[in-house]
Order: sequence, then C-alpha cells, then structure tokens
Amino acid sequence: MSRMLPQILLPESQNEPSLTLPAVGQGTWYMGENLVPRQQEKDALRYGLDLGLSLIDTAEMYGDGGAEQVVGEAIRGRRDDAFVVSKVYPWNAARESAIAACERSLERLDIDTIDLYLLHWPGSIPLEETFEAFERLRDQGKIRRFGVSNFDAGSLRAMDALPAASECATNQVLYHLGSRGIEVDVLPWMQDHHRPVMAYCPLAQGGRLRSKLLSSSVVNEIADKHGANAAQVLLAWVIRPTSSNPGAPRPVVAIPKASTLAHVKANAEALTIDLDAEDLTRLDNAFPAPREPVSLDII
Ligand SMILES: NC(=O)c1ccc[n+]([C@@H]2O[C@H](COP(=O)([O-])OP(=O)(O)OC[C@H]3O[C@@H](n4cnc5c(N)ncnc54)[C@H](OP(=O)(O)O)[C@@H]3O)[C@@H](O)[C@H]2O)c1
Repeated sequence: MSRMLPQILLPESQNEPSLTLPAVGQGTWYMGENLVPRQQEKDALRYGLDLGLSLIDTAEMYGDGGAEQVVGEAIRGRRDDAFVVSKVYPWNAARESAIAACERSLERLDIDTIDLYLLHWPGSIPLEETFEAFERLRDQGKIRRFGVSNFDAGSLRAMDALPAASECATNQVLYHLGSRGIEVDVLPWMQDHHRPVMAYCPLAQGGRLRSKLLSSSVVNEIADKHGANAAQVLLAWVIRPTSSNPGAPRPVVAIPKASTLAHVKANAEALTIDLDAEDLTRLDNAFPAPREPVSLDII
C-alpha cells in the first residue's frame, strides 16, 4: 500500500470545497529573469508537477511578471495538475486596481482563474477595500480563493475584525529552522483559525543563516540518519506534524524554489522524511524558537 504523503488542508470557502495539497510546493522568485535558461525553469516546474508538487507560487513582482509567464508556459496543457498562487503588490490592491492587476496576471499566466490570490504584504490601502476587490474577483471567477502574506500577529488580529476575514485562506510568511518567530504568535493564530501557513524561504535563501543551517553538524547527522541531505531535513522540519497523528493535515506548506531537476527531486523526496521526536529535540536545542514575540522576519 502506498503511504499518504503529508498534506495541508485549505478550508472550504464561499464557492470552493475544502482542498488538500502536498505540503511541499514550488516557488518561482528569480525565475523569468534570464538568470538561468527559461527552458530549464519550465522543465524544473514541470518535473515538480510530475512529482506531485502541484502548488506553484508566483507574484506579479517576480521578474516584473516574467515569473508568471514562465509558470504559464510550464503549466500549458496541464492546468489541472497545478494549483497556482499569485500575489498582488500592495499599491495595486485597491478596489479597481486589484481587478486590473489580477487580469494582467491571468494574461501572463495564460489561465482563466488563479487558484489563490494573495496580498503580497500589508500596505496603505485599507485591507477591507482589498478584500472587497478579492471577493469581486472571486465572484467573477477570476480567482478561487484569496489570502495574505507577510502579516504579523497584530495584522492578523486587525484583519479578524473584517467580515471577509473568515475567507482568508492562508498567510504566506518567512519560516525556516533559523527563523522561528512565527511559532510564538502567527502560527498559533493560524492553527486556531484552521488555516495553513505558507512558508517562504524554507531553505533560508538570501539569509545569512543559510550556510550555517546547511553546514550544521546536527542537521547533517539527522540527514545521514534518514539517508537524506541537509536541505531535505530543513524542508521536512518546516512541514513537520504538530499533532501525534502523522496523517493529520500539516499546519505549514513549504514552497522552495528550485531551478534544477536535482533540487526539485530532492525537495519532493523531503515529503517522505519523518523526523522523529529525538530529531526534533536536537533541532530545537540547536536552533531554538524565541519565547517572546519578535517582529516578523521578512525578505
Ligand atoms: N511572500 C513573500 O514575500 C515571499 C518572499 C520570498 C519568497 N517567496 C516565495 O517563496 C519561494 C521560496 O523562497 P526563496 O526562493 O526566496 O528561497 P528558498 O526556497 O529558501 O531558496 C531557494 C534557493 O535554494 C536552492 N535550492 C532549492 N532546492 C534545493 C535543494 N534541494 N538543495 C539545495 N539548494 C536548493 C535554489 O537553487 P536553484 O534555484 O539553483 O535550484 C535557490 O538558490 C520564492 O521562490 C517565492 O515563490 C515569497
């Protein structure tokens, strides 16, 4: 019997039933910028889809729309294999501008509907107005669900006062073994409200901690124990179960960006690594979570 791979559960929303997705997806920041051949980026994303990494995260910001175009080309002919997440700039998130921004994203992605549309970070446009636009987009069938990104606990509490807050499907935030601030207040809030967190930079891209994490003797010893490598342990840690039932939906989905087939394969295999209590204790001791609230880490 094949084993159940870890999944997250997106709650049902007004027009959509609840939905499970693999707890590892694919990021696209820096794609579509000619840093590596475009074909290589498309091949990586398509290989990820082959391996079941259906959630693809992008944004109008990445490559100035270039990443959305790469995603559009990668999913052409296999739309049903992909769950497409895109994000709107905060300054494009007003009543009318959000509609126009979404339409531009749809055009670049070459699809009719974005599965999940996020406000990229909090801005000066009232969230109520952004959510109104998101609800309109959903009613028009241009998006299926909506959510937020880079919201700290205070922003989440403020959001909760809005009628549309119950429709907010996720909060995408920076989270990796070297940056655990969300465990104090953001992650508990999301769990209390039965919404998964989407973890960006799960491999600490751009962070000074990346090499420290990847070369950590604790991380590497645990990797050896599981016949894995350090990056895979970092991903398995981000998506670890928090209940005693390993089959329960995971509270966090990791969205590593990979532009080589080897990295995509490694990231998909991270879904099969079960860190045990001893591993988790060793990682906690080496990279403890803060005890008090800290400001939200962003990149
Ligand atoms: N909401 C936000 O504000 C926000 C901010 C940042 C990122 N994001 C999203 O989150 C995604 C992930 O974050 P990120 O791209 O910043 O950082 P990341 O996923 O932590 O790191 C990406 C880097 O790790 C490398 N890599 C991937 N898989 C690997 C593996 N198995 N072993 C070793 N190295 C590996 C990649 O190399 P190769 O490319 O060479 O494979 C790339 O250099 C982004 O792409 C984006 O979609 C959202």
